[in-house]
Amino acid sequence: MGQQERHSLNLIGFALPVAAAWMGSAFCAALGLAALALATLGPGEHGTILALKVTARFSFLLFWLAYAAGAMTTLFGPAFEPLKRRGREFGLAFASAHLVHLGLVAWLTYIGHAPARGVFLFFGVAALWTYLLALFSIPRLQKALGSKGWWFLRAVGLNYIAYAFATDFLGYPQFGSFKYLVGYLPFAALSVVGPLLCLAAFVQRAAWLRKTSSRQTG
Ligand code: HEM
Repeated sequence: MGQQERHSLNLIGFALPVAAAWMGSAFCAALGLAALALATLGPGEHGTILALKVTARFSFLLFWLAYAAGAMTTLFGPAFEPLKRRGREFGLAFASAHLVHLGLVAWLTYIGHAPARGVFLFFGVAALWTYLLALFSIPRLQKALGSKGWWFLRAVGLNYIAYAFATDFLGYPQFGSFKYLVGYLPFAALSVVGPLLCLAAFVQRAAWLRKTSSRQTG
């Protein structure tokens, strides 16, 4: 972290300039993608659904980097360290970009095509986890939670969000169609690879901890 960033952290307890730049850029990019989709198919149901699909994919890529960068560093070495170091920024960028997705949900509901109650419930919980994690990424709140509490919150929250993305990307039934190959397969693959990487990294870290603690006691 650069001098200037550290200074801003000391001053207000929150790395505002860097995080704000990431959040602002991600929000504007998501807004641009949504505007493009609405301009293509119009602001009715079809255009809004397309905008929801596009913004979901954009925010998924940001989420995936926040979710898997630590695991990739553990498994494949320091080449992935720069991504891991930016984990918080990717997470906050995801939360910010996803506001556009939620805005589109509100618009879809307003124009009379509200999603089913089950969708609100299942994805609403994922949205709550998103903003709870964003809130506790503030260093002062994270410190109050303690390292075990933060680990638990992250583990449950991130995996629930990953599961929510995976259910959508893996649920598309028309395998082999052009729409599937371009619009679903790459995202479905990432949504499977991400949790596998995290699991492998968890096992590797646990094995390493067991080895070092037995060496100390032995
Ligand atoms: C973190 C929370 C959320 C995640 C991870 C998420 C994920 C996704 C994904 C992956 C898609 C693309 C589906 C596809 O291409 O087939 C999507 C679209 C959509 N989402 Fe979300 N979403 C979230 C929040 C919400 C909420 C709270 C609602 C409101 C009930 C919602 C309603 C929709 C709708 C209506 C679509 C369009 C579905 C369609 O293709 O017909 N999402 N979302």
